Amino acid sequence: MGISINRMMSEFQGEKPSKAKNIVWHEASVDRKHIAKKKGHQSSILWFTGLSGSGKSTLANAVNASLFARGLSTYVLDGDNIRHGLCKDLGFSDLDREENIRRIGEVAKLFLDAGVIVLTAFVSPFRSDRNKARELVGEGDFIEIYCSADLKTCEERDTKGLYAKARKGEIKDFTGISSPYEEPQFPELEIDTANMDLEKCVDRVIEKLIEFNLF
Ligand code: ADX
Repeated sequence: MGISINRMMSEFQGEKPSKAKNIVWHEASVDRKHIAKKKGHQSSILWFTGLSGSGKSTLANAVNASLFARGLSTYVLDGDNIRHGLCKDLGFSDLDREENIRRIGEVAKLFLDAGVIVLTAFVSPFRSDRNKARELVGEGDFIEIYCSADLKTCEERDTKGLYAKARKGEIKDFTGISSPYEEPQFPELEIDTANMDLEKCVDRVIEKLIEFNLF
């Protein structure tokens, strides 16, 4: 379950340069500050991370509903859904996960610029990939929320039947079984999604957003 040679090489090589030449940056005429003033709330990235089955999508969607009910502009980017489109060319090797999270970081940044509170629900198992997404935006714009349900709980839930398949060797590189999950060291928020009910989990997130002066 160690880090692969390909992944080590990729980290060593660092950020890939842009392939396109002769491109110039265009400043937006309407920026985040204008949008925030008009809408009455800040934009932000709420980055949910945790094992498959830890409750990321459920919690992100419940928080989304609560924010929407308050009249805020929000959007959920969900791992399983995004892999049907934008990331359908990617599998679950370390390098494909890295590219998956790189793309999501970039997309989330676009939502941030558009004045939206974007909630991302991806396993995002590698600390360095999550940190790169964090570094893309300013400190304070990236709120990492660790859904800390443990492997035993997630495997017992096995809502999609994937853990059973992974144990039988029918799915390779499965997070927690045959591929690592690196816990966040300093998440803005850790939520015990193994033991707390959904309503309480939502309340904790909303409290954190108020603390961050989002609305
Ligand atoms: S990530 O590691 O690249 O962040 P992502 O969140 O997009 O993963 O997708 C994870 C979802 O894909 C899981 O919730 C699960 O439903 C499904 N899945 C299928 N194969 C795997 C696998 N090998 N490891 C983890 N999740 C998998």
